[in-house]
Amino acid sequence: MAYSDKVVDHYENPRNVGKFDNGDEDVGTGMVGAPACGDVMKLQIKVNPATGKIEDAKFKTYGCGSAIASSSLVTEWVKGKTLDEALTIKNTQIAEELALPPVKIHCSILAEDAIKAAVDDYRAKHATTTA
Ligand code: FES
Ligand code: FES
Repeated sequence: MAYSDKVVDHYENPRNVGKFDNGDEDVGTGMVGAPACGDVMKLQIKVNPATGKIEDAKFKTYGCGSAIASSSLVTEWVKGKTLDEALTIKNTQIAEELALPPVKIHCSILAEDAIKAAVDDYRAKHATTTA
């Protein structure tokens, strides 16, 4: 099976690989695994508290080329978005952008789930506790 040019590009030149300090209160961390293959993706967002927008994102993915490309792509897509906007990113858009074949759709689902997990983590950190 051949990978699309965009998958190869993101695989060869992944954007935003790395990590933020999870102790930073502006950071949300999402870690998800794919039951289908055992691959793991960690996605982190850094939110600007003044604007409420995601100003930076980083990822580390242990997985196939499609999973790496999907996570690289979404770190680019979430930048500049609000949390609600980031949650509208669908795996179908990722799969379409990267021209993923059906057998690799779960890799894009991993990326969508990682965004949700990162947003959830950020929101949990900032949930106001009512006395
Ligand atoms: Fe695990 Fe994709 S099947 S690397
Ligand atoms: Fe399992 Fe891509 S994440 S094959």
